[in-house]
Amino acid sequence: MAEIVVVPDQKQAGELAAQSIVDLIASRPDAVLGLATGSTPLALYRALTARVAETGIDVAHVRGFALDEYVGLPADHPESYRSVITREVVEPLGLTPSLIHVPNGAIDGIEHAGPDYERAIAEAGGVDVQILGIGTDGHIGFNEPGSSFASATRVKTLTEQTRRDNARFFPSEADVPMHCITQGLGTILRAKHLLLLAFGEGKAEAVAGAVEGPVSASNPGSAIQLHPHVTVIVDEAAASRL
Ligand code: GLP
Repeated sequence: MAEIVVVPDQKQAGELAAQSIVDLIASRPDAVLGLATGSTPLALYRALTARVAETGIDVAHVRGFALDEYVGLPADHPESYRSVITREVVEPLGLTPSLIHVPNGAIDGIEHAGPDYERAIAEAGGVDVQILGIGTDGHIGFNEPGSSFASATRVKTLTEQTRRDNARFFPSEADVPMHCITQGLGTILRAKHLLLLAFGEGKAEAVAGAVEGPVSASNPGSAIQLHPHVTVIVDEAAASRL
């Protein structure tokens, strides 16, 4: 059973999550963080930046693996997840860029990108804490409904719903890539600790499905029920259907 923590707002959620990550880094300076993108983890990354500055904790050896990436965007595109992770996490925290990995979304050699990423995660000894958001349709990473719970990092087609949801980051919906490369649900379940954050009424149904719904491939978030160490931090609106 996941530990559910309901907090008044995103700021407090970010501070709570940031404290657990600072504690992890204090005990393991080369901790491996699983990094989510999207709007949800931004409060956590801000709070973590502040905590790192306040405590002066050494983060130079911290390693990281992003959850997913768009396929076919130039790596320096401002909305590639490589760019987002660099801008929101690596630079503010002062992480060592060469220790932070993002799946390779370049079309050239895409068939090797998934297996290469799985190998890199395994060689790092696995992810210590995987930060997760959740899509309105219950997707985690870019594992859309129907994804196998055993899936590994692979190329997927984005659903219309997710392309609509993510259109706010692009000039128009037509500019949202059609494909992505994402850690699989199997990859995510191998992380030692899952830290899922969700905010707002729009996520209430997805949160309830993930935490209490039937465990089913039609609801990717429900995979978290198979994991022995899960923390879910939500605001009251996102918790409203629990
Ligand atoms: C995106 C990302 C996910 C993220 C989810 C929710 O498509 N691939 O990793 O958790 O959708 O996004 P947001 O946090 O912006 O609501």
